[in-house]
Amino acid sequence: MAEPVLEVQGLTRRFGDFTAVSDLSFDIQPGEIFGFLGPNGAGKSTTIRMLCGVLTPSAGTARALGRDLFTEADLLRSRMGYMSQKSSLLTDLTVAENLRFFGGLYGLEGQRLASEVSFRLHEMQVWDQRDALVAELSTGERQRVALAAATLHRPEILFLDEPTSGVDPLRRRLFWEAMDELVAEGMSILVTTHNLGEADQCDRLAFILGGRLMAYGRPRTLKEALGRQVLELRADRFRDLQLAARRQPEVLAAELLGRSVRISLSASLAPEALLARLRAEGHTFEALPAEQPSLEDLFVDLVQHARTA
Ligand SMILES: Nc1ncnc2c1ncn2[C@@H]1O[C@H](COP(=O)(O)OP(=O)(O)OP(=O)(O)O)[C@@H](O)[C@H]1O
Ligand SMILES: [Mg+2]
Repeated sequence: MAEPVLEVQGLTRRFGDFTAVSDLSFDIQPGEIFGFLGPNGAGKSTTIRMLCGVLTPSAGTARALGRDLFTEADLLRSRMGYMSQKSSLLTDLTVAENLRFFGGLYGLEGQRLASEVSFRLHEMQVWDQRDALVAELSTGERQRVALAAATLHRPEILFLDEPTSGVDPLRRRLFWEAMDELVAEGMSILVTTHNLGEADQCDRLAFILGGRLMAYGRPRTLKEALGRQVLELRADRFRDLQLAARRQPEVLAAELLGRSVRISLSASLAPEALLARLRAEGHTFEALPAEQPSLEDLFVDLVQHARTA
């Protein structure tokens, strides 16, 4: 792998005697879209806020673009961009006025400012809204304007905290296309999301729970590492089938999905062996082809595991 653009070691943040982020270590490779996944309160925003210099860490180190992120923050600020979870746009200014304002904060002025604003307005597909007040925009438009504002100075590392929350699937896709363009420009992106479809599109993921890193890697590797198979059985007597499946020791979970039973099966038992056992008990059903577990399976698994631990 190349030299990471960001390398975090043992990052920790305490609020009084509560530890919001605990001993977090990960790195981000050049040109990567790196996803942060975890339930509410997991510590995602707190981590991002420390990396953006908004919040002081209690412990840990971080290097970004070859410099110490915490002691050389002033040298790095202009090379990083941040879109916070709560939009920082000024709602009583127009879209273009907002971008000129934020560009000014980054030190852009004159012709350079005008051309960067125009470039981003087009790229984020909000050119037609340039003279509208931010207060009048839809959520999807507003989020794309916020992304434009965070990237006017062409940062090399971009932190996006839940940029697509409340955005419909079509506009969400538009937002991800814009992120792909930013990566093509040479940016590396850390993005938090609650959307598992989005998480699946990330190059790598960190799954955080209670401030700790629970799983880390490529989405596909993480799903494979779950070591289980997912089966869907269609049956008229689906409730009986669900109970029968739950009695099998290798069945990790059996949930109803319409008139089907969705079974999560340990890798220690072949699916055919399970089907044979259920048939031997007198159950009739139609088995759909086995699937790979989804990120949702991973998510549920980790949360349940943490609860019982
Ligand atoms: N300034 C603060 N003072 C005290 N506790 C805080 C502070 N900021 C965050 N916390 C706590 O730290 C924990 C992590 O919060 P954080 O906002 O990082 O979670 P998150 O993963 O971003 O959640 P969400 O998905 O809801 O945005 C929460 O329990 C929160 O209440
Ligand atoms: Mg958050």
